[in-house]
Amino acid sequence: MNQPAVLPKSPAQPGRAEAFAERVSDIVNLGAVAVMLSIGHRTGLLAAMAGRPAAGSAAIAASAGLAERYVREWLAALVTAGIVEYEPGTATYRLPDEHAACLVPGGALGNLAVYTQHVALMGQMQERIIECFRTGAGTRYEEYPHFHHMMAEDSGQTVVAQLRETILPLVPGLEARLESGIEVLDAGCGRGEALVALGQAFPESRFTGYDLCADAVAAARAAAARAGVDNVRFEVVDMTHFDEPGRYDLVTSFDAVHDQQAPDELIRRIRRALRPDGVYVMQDIGGSAALENNLDFPMAAFLYAISCVHCTPVSLGQGGAGLGTMWGWETAERMLRDAGFRDIQRHLLPHDPQNVWFVSR
Ligand SMILES: C[S@@+](CC[C@H](N)C(=O)[O-])C[C@H]1O[C@@H](n2cnc3c(N)ncnc32)[C@H](O)[C@@H]1O
Repeated sequence: MNQPAVLPKSPAQPGRAEAFAERVSDIVNLGAVAVMLSIGHRTGLLAAMAGRPAAGSAAIAASAGLAERYVREWLAALVTAGIVEYEPGTATYRLPDEHAACLVPGGALGNLAVYTQHVALMGQMQERIIECFRTGAGTRYEEYPHFHHMMAEDSGQTVVAQLRETILPLVPGLEARLESGIEVLDAGCGRGEALVALGQAFPESRFTGYDLCADAVAAARAAAARAGVDNVRFEVVDMTHFDEPGRYDLVTSFDAVHDQQAPDELIRRIRRALRPDGVYVMQDIGGSAALENNLDFPMAAFLYAISCVHCTPVSLGQGGAGLGTMWGWETAERMLRDAGFRDIQRHLLPHDPQNVWFVSR
């Protein structure tokens, strides 16, 4: 049962209280705008408006194949949020190029609308998570609608698009080894787009992707078939029990360790799976294990919120440690060392300020 709030009759600093109340109003307003952007991304409305001249709501709805009445209300939300421009004389709307630059696929500044989907998903999961708050129990991946698709869009920007330019160069000589032909594993591969891209680029190497979720693996297999690669295979594997000693020259994990049942155990198993000259490339969230160090970390509140609604409960739901999204690079580095890696290098990549990259041997 909710306890009654205990408050003094009036705050000691009324000005501070009023300023904070304004801030909360902004949070409510912008939280709603995030969901509108998520809808705009998922329905294709943002893409339909990008780079196009001003148009009426009926034309915009028609170009995205959607119902005008809903599109008009969505447009009003984006106009009042300062995202879309509105010309009352002609009742036309325009998404300025400068705004489209971070809101559509291929935008010059990436597609930040992809991340607004997390906000929408948090709302969708609220009742379930409140139940978890009360019971202490966890959740299952399958309970999060659209999760793997959303993750693939996310890593499409931070991983797939950067493989050749910034990620492979983290390991000197790796491209040459991939060209001559090596054995590669991606742990927690999700929809497998990184491996498919690698499979296409390096036909002499063999790539294996393991993931817990059958729907993600089905999508990964479909992506491999579409790309026509025959050197990439995907399997549904619970990596909690994975044991393939000395099999791989390269193991990768992209944002797939902190929410495992036992991240330390997985890292130990990955080390055992490497050949003596093998290398493990691990991308994970780059926050600190200490809350006080994360006050200025990019989008820290968003990351803790994702942790609360997704990463912590899915780990707890597997009977796991529930380390959370902000488990901390210090924790990751310690687990790598405890697993027996001796040469551990930590990198930060400018395109990806929320993640840390470890190269371990
Ligand atoms: C945050 S997602 C990242 C997916 C993918 N690497 C990407 O970057 O898009 C974490 C992935 O780890 C997988 N995973 C979690 N626990 C696992 C386990 N015990 N065994 C195998 N995969 C697991 C999830 O199914 C999910 O696809």
